[in-house]
Amino acid sequence: MKRIAVFTSGGDSPGMNACVRAVVRTAVYNGLEVFGIRRGYNGLIKGDIFPMDSQSVSNIVQKGGTILKSARSKEFMTPEGRQKAYDNLHNFGIEGLVAIGGNGTFTGALKFFNEFGIPTVGAPGTIDNDLYGTDYTIGFDTAVNTALDAIDKIRDTADSHDRVFFIEVMGRDSGYIAIQSGLGGGAEKVLVPETQTNLEDVIENLKDNMQRSKTSSIIVVAEGDDEGSAQDIANRVKQYIPNSDIRVTTLGHIQRGGSPTAYDRILATRLGAACVEGLLDGKKCVMAGLMNNEVVYTPFEDTITLKKPLHPDLLRLVEILNI
Ligand code: F6P
Repeated sequence: MKRIAVFTSGGDSPGMNACVRAVVRTAVYNGLEVFGIRRGYNGLIKGDIFPMDSQSVSNIVQKGGTILKSARSKEFMTPEGRQKAYDNLHNFGIEGLVAIGGNGTFTGALKFFNEFGIPTVGAPGTIDNDLYGTDYTIGFDTAVNTALDAIDKIRDTADSHDRVFFIEVMGRDSGYIAIQSGLGGGAEKVLVPETQTNLEDVIENLKDNMQRSKTSSIIVVAEGDDEGSAQDIANRVKQYIPNSDIRVTTLGHIQRGGSPTAYDRILATRLGAACVEGLLDGKKCVMAGLMNNEVVYTPFEDTITLKKPLHPDLLRLVEILNI
């Protein structure tokens, strides 16, 4: 293999730049030519492909977002789109890809490999931490810390005004951001998609807290919770405890930005390098992840189909600590 290309795809996450940097520099170190593709699969289809070298990735390790830009491509889901993508890769003589993204990105890469035989090694770039085959995804730690900072600030004002706050965090169908930020922020309850939410229990818990003179409470709600959004849940709860002062904050996209934490930079760096080393080693259609602090490669089939469960200890601890 002489030429590879790297792209970022799907929702951006802090640490993607550190990963791109590691890919480019590891490729150069190994004597490979390396290209960047802008805006994920859309750039592959349009031929928005450019040569990169060691200098192209200077001064980006600390930056949030992605210098390669990102997109969710509808066209790549069509056979015509993938044919155009292949034609461009063929014209550039690119023989292997590094894809930094999540589930959708790897689903596309697997389809592409089955049709055109282009090997891809992926790095898990998503704040959601919803990928099987890695303990943590790139950007998750930063997103949790951003959410935690917001929860701490909301706790100050909640306490001053004796209010109940429902705080909605991202995560798509995963409760990882919610459980980690909720546990770290001392939330009274955390509602996640992985377990069935019982509103009666939430209401009883709040009433109980009031009786115990606990005048403010924080309830962290994962956006994918089965009972709906934080606003929906708050509206329903309010009907049963009308004398409580309930507020809702949806943290939204601030969780996707910002300078990556040390953990995310190092994770991204290790996995970026592992992607290139994996390609050189002849790996195809696998995701590089870190499990128990060791690099492991998991087939895309597994990362796409297998669920990463929430550690039951985390849920249990929220309950135990809310006494
Ligand atoms: O996958 C990352 C993520 O931020 C999810 O947590 C969220 O559900 C989704 O992307 C939001 O996507 P968009 O930025 O396209 O609205």
